[in-house]
Amino acid sequence: MLDLHCHILPGVDDGPKTLEDSLWLAREMAKVGFSEVVATPHFMAEGAPLKPEEVIRKVEGLNQALGAEGIGLKVYPGMELYLTPELPELIAGGKVLGLKGERIYLIELPLTQKPPWLTFYLAEIIGAGNKVIIAHPERYRYLRENREEIEELLDMGVVFQVSLTSLLSGYFGEGSRKSARWFLEKGVLVGTDAHGPGSIRFLEEYLKPEVFTNNRRFFEGKSCEPVTLEIQGERQKKKSWFKFF
Ligand SMILES: [Fe+2]
Repeated sequence: MLDLHCHILPGVDDGPKTLEDSLWLAREMAKVGFSEVVATPHFMAEGAPLKPEEVIRKVEGLNQALGAEGIGLKVYPGMELYLTPELPELIAGGKVLGLKGERIYLIELPLTQKPPWLTFYLAEIIGAGNKVIIAHPERYRYLRENREEIEELLDMGVVFQVSLTSLLSGYFGEGSRKSARWFLEKGVLVGTDAHGPGSIRFLEEYLKPEVFTNNRRFFEGKSCEPVTLEIQGERQKKKSWFKFF
């Protein structure tokens, strides 16, 4: 299985703090059947932005450590880019990373309010010859409740990526959970959005090869196919998931 949204690099964002923690997450991922993962640490244009060289250096270091530990997981560089008006220029100037070294950009949107320039800047990025993946569309209420807008983005060539964490009841809420199911059945890319080993443990029942097949298809230039998830007795637990992520 290939995961294309994962916070597995040590000490770059709110993912693992140390190399040991990254290896722990990697071990859990390999155990449930992942062989490849794209590391997508958060990138924000403000403050001291994460540099591509740092991500590449950390990916190399982690791959070496994985080899030394005999963990069968290959890590590729990437970033989860927060959409701001500067992003098209940062992409054009090579200041941020696409997934697996390709001109495929995983973009996160503002969580609660739709910026008026959202479509404008996404169109600019796509117009420059790049592919755009929108991370966890099910988490943006302004988007998930507006099917017309979803269709408009699809027509522009945007691809959506659902996060499996959204399927956990009580984590991002019922609206996100239902929307994530809807997107899966429509045909989308899938990421764990794991931030630590606990993420994988709680996602166990969703970690099936058929859920992730679109990820590889996408990198082969193929379109996404619908995914039907058969989950026995959907999780109804309302535990505090936050302590595990
Ligand atoms: Fe993420």
